[in-house]
Amino acid sequence: MLAFSEGRAAARLDGQWGFTDTTGRRIVPSQYEQVFAYRNGYTPGYAKTAAGLHRSGRPGVAPAYEAVQDFAYGLAPVAVIQKVLGAMRRTRWGFIDVRGEMVIPPQFTRALAFSEGLAAVRVEGCWGYIDREGYLMIPPRYEQAHAFQHGVALVVEKGRLLYIDRGGACAGRARPLESVSHISYVLPLLSSIYVVSIRKASMEISTLAVIGAGTMGQGIAHVAALHGRMVRLVDVSEDVLQRALQTIEHNLERQVKKERITATQKEEALSRIVPLTDLEAAVAEVQLVIEAVPENPDLKAQVFERLDRAAPPEAILASNTSSISITWLAARTQRSAQVIGMHFFNPVPVMQLVEIVRGLETSDATYETIYHLAEALDKTPVTVNDAPGFVSNRVLMPMINEAIYCVMEGVATPEDVDRVMKLGMNHPMGPLALADLIGLDVCLGIMEVLHRELGEDKYRPCPLLRKMVAAGRLGRKTGRGFYEYASN
Ligand code: CAA
Repeated sequence: MLAFSEGRAAARLDGQWGFTDTTGRRIVPSQYEQVFAYRNGYTPGYAKTAAGLHRSGRPGVAPAYEAVQDFAYGLAPVAVIQKVLGAMRRTRWGFIDVRGEMVIPPQFTRALAFSEGLAAVRVEGCWGYIDREGYLMIPPRYEQAHAFQHGVALVVEKGRLLYIDRGGACAGRARPLESVSHISYVLPLLSSIYVVSIRKASMEISTLAVIGAGTMGQGIAHVAALHGRMVRLVDVSEDVLQRALQTIEHNLERQVKKERITATQKEEALSRIVPLTDLEAAVAEVQLVIEAVPENPDLKAQVFERLDRAAPPEAILASNTSSISITWLAARTQRSAQVIGMHFFNPVPVMQLVEIVRGLETSDATYETIYHLAEALDKTPVTVNDAPGFVSNRVLMPMINEAIYCVMEGVATPEDVDRVMKLGMNHPMGPLALADLIGLDVCLGIMEVLHRELGEDKYRPCPLLRKMVAAGRLGRKTGRGFYEYASN
């Protein structure tokens, strides 16, 4: 299948364009031999000398199609040379509809380019679009756009050259030109070259599996499904999966109530998540696996060995580990170049950061794919090298550990320790409330990695933290940590 429109799949069947209908029946309309493209249920083709429309084999050659340069959304855009004041000539973009009538939408005079039924214009130094009714749109992040091509704006942000689509999302990152200083002059010449290079360098992820339906796995599945990805969510029992789906639904509903998303988006996101207990079956056809099982090195190693055997050879294996070495995990597999850290933060639907951790062997292609995916999920990726705790937990966990020492030594109550950090340091929540949110077992696991790997006393886990974990006071998830939580 090469395209999809109006409930039918357009495909090349034995060298011809055709359709597969919803029952799987193949239809190759007559006269499709001349078809050279397919858009929105219509197939523009050449009949005699004019470009015309053929649909269901019925020729509908639109008059005046000789001038057509492209075909989109059932209309043929043309550049119309107009005479103004008898002498001056200027070019206006317009459409020829299927009846052959010329339509010149208002304000199209200013159009500098044309894409997907919209005229691209520059208004007061910004790129924007004018639709057929003459309405102007300036998509988010377009203010900084230096150039415009193929329906996307080329924007320089923090020294990086990005493609930004009309939703304001990053549709790709241009690496080869980062060092070029006069970007606006070279881009029109080179953009088509590096559109190709971006597509080659990174893979578009549409289907992924999330292993582990705990707090982080739920959050990752939620965000990926909300951004259009098909998600297989895997855990060991049906019960865990059902509870995870309920939590995801509850968190999506929060976003609906806050009018961040629509009820339809919520339903669509839920419909994209398939819960499964069979790991091997779940990863058999995915492009990416994100592992989010508990922070235990032996468990993660075992999972990676299984994933390596069961996932397609080209699939990327990412770990949401908060402290375990990516290089070490990669060495459990036969595909170390395709192993990477993709570290999300709790609550995943809210937190902006994804720490991207490159292992020693991680390839550029793997890195590019994951970097672009993080951006496509509306997150901000920050790249770090593989070192214990990466940056986030190397800095955060010693602070939490020290706050626990303060409680153990009677310096202050948990409430007062948190109050000091909230009011004095403007942290959104105190370190002990945050430890409860993260899970005290997770905090202990990370401190143990820091202590073992970096070998310094300053990383020694606080004895009170050990004691609370031993007692099963793990924070919010067990209803009790430094604070008590009503079960909901
Ligand atoms: N799903 C969807 N939305 C959620 C959500 C969830 N799970 N949890 C909270 N929200 C939304 C709320 O609906 C609310 O939305 P609006 O802004 O649209 O109103 C927003 O998030 C804020 O929530 P609240 O009003 O309920 O509460 P708050 O203002 O106190 O914020 C918080 C809560 C976002 C958790 C904030 O306190 C915070 O940012 N805390 C710090 C969290 C943090 O540091 N996380 C990183 C932990 S480290 C980690 O995860 C990695 C590791 O390796 C250990």
